[in-house]
Amino acid sequence: MKILSIETSCDETAISIIEASGEVSGANFKVLANIVLSQAKLHAEYGGVFPNLAKREHSKNLVPVLKQALENAKMLNKVEDINLSNTEEIVTLLTREPQMLEQFLELIPTISKPEIDIIAVTNGPGLEPALWVGVNFAKALSIVWDIPIIPVNHMEGHILAGILKEVGNKEIKLENIKFPTISLLISGGHTELVLMKDWMNYEIIGQTRDDAVGEAFDKVARMLELPYPGGPEISKLAEQAQRTKEPLYPLPRPMIKTDNFDFSFSGLKTAVLYTVKKLEQLTPRTKEAIALEFEEAVTEILLKKTFRAVEKYNARTIIIGGGVSANKRIREAFSKEMQKMPDAKLFVPEQTLSTDNALMIAVAGYFIALSKQGKILSEKNIRAQGNLTL
Ligand code: KG4
Ligand code: ZN
Repeated sequence: MKILSIETSCDETAISIIEASGEVSGANFKVLANIVLSQAKLHAEYGGVFPNLAKREHSKNLVPVLKQALENAKMLNKVEDINLSNTEEIVTLLTREPQMLEQFLELIPTISKPEIDIIAVTNGPGLEPALWVGVNFAKALSIVWDIPIIPVNHMEGHILAGILKEVGNKEIKLENIKFPTISLLISGGHTELVLMKDWMNYEIIGQTRDDAVGEAFDKVARMLELPYPGGPEISKLAEQAQRTKEPLYPLPRPMIKTDNFDFSFSGLKTAVLYTVKKLEQLTPRTKEAIALEFEEAVTEILLKKTFRAVEKYNARTIIIGGGVSANKRIREAFSKEMQKMPDAKLFVPEQTLSTDNALMIAVAGYFIALSKQGKILSEKNIRAQGNLTL
């Protein structure tokens, strides 16, 4: 089964094309194309993702990214200009994205229908205006090529990204995992602990009550006068910090002891704000010390809560996913903790799959297609849902 996937939930415009085979547990994926176009540099000026800019960039970039993906997958076959029978429908659908519409009507009639069986598109959670661009683009392709669409939850993608294993050049398999599993999803918009008792079976057992971890990293970075995205910047500074026995600027570990799996990061963020305000001047040295203590506080909280859940549910598979899972200290702390559990396994996505990408959406789309075998419908009614939950 060949799947074209589209991801536009935040500030990455991503498209991938895969050829998938096998049952869920032994699934095999050939990566025919995998493109991620990051807008991070554009948003840096605003100190965070600016939704309307994200939407505009997605609509400007989707057609060129699709063209490149088809070319990489050797599916871009030029033909004599075809007369599209559904132009009017496309015009109505993409009327709010004039630039995308123009590019769409310029490219699509000049290429033949690619050998794609399913279009998988992220329909949430994320920035709703950004999601809509991807969803409408998927619908437009579905109409002209008559290919069914499968809506995919972005968070399901992040979980699966953690258990994808490269087995050869452009070939990917799923790791062997044991259920139940506990996944810690940490990104710019989410902080969730998810229990999986079986494939496709997700239960959120804990989540943040205020800021997401990535959001806290980004906001603290701004307080320390660091550019967006702040996570990698804080991580870099923390690594340079001189380790002292006692932290120079101690910070709290909110909710670390509470008897549930929820998180709260806004108090920690505010504590950083007060610390910075008390300082006469932010020097490279003070910034490093604060970055180190902040990163340690976050790591300790994530570690404690996750392993408490692992113990409670007797999980032997632990998956970390989402942009913040790229963080070195968090990865190291989790690996170290795993030494106490020799019969359990930790899965962390490869760096390129930890941040937003379309490959994970294609894989999730395949699983959904398998589970709906024989009744894949063209889901014309799909809607972008900013608050979609697992
Ligand atoms: O999953 P993602 O790419 O997008 C969302 O769905 O939000 O996550 C982006 C977040 C940003 O907040 C960014 O600062 C954070 O991931 N991030 C990191 C690191 N790399 C990215 N946070 C901490 N340490 C990192 N190395
Ligand atoms: Zn994400």
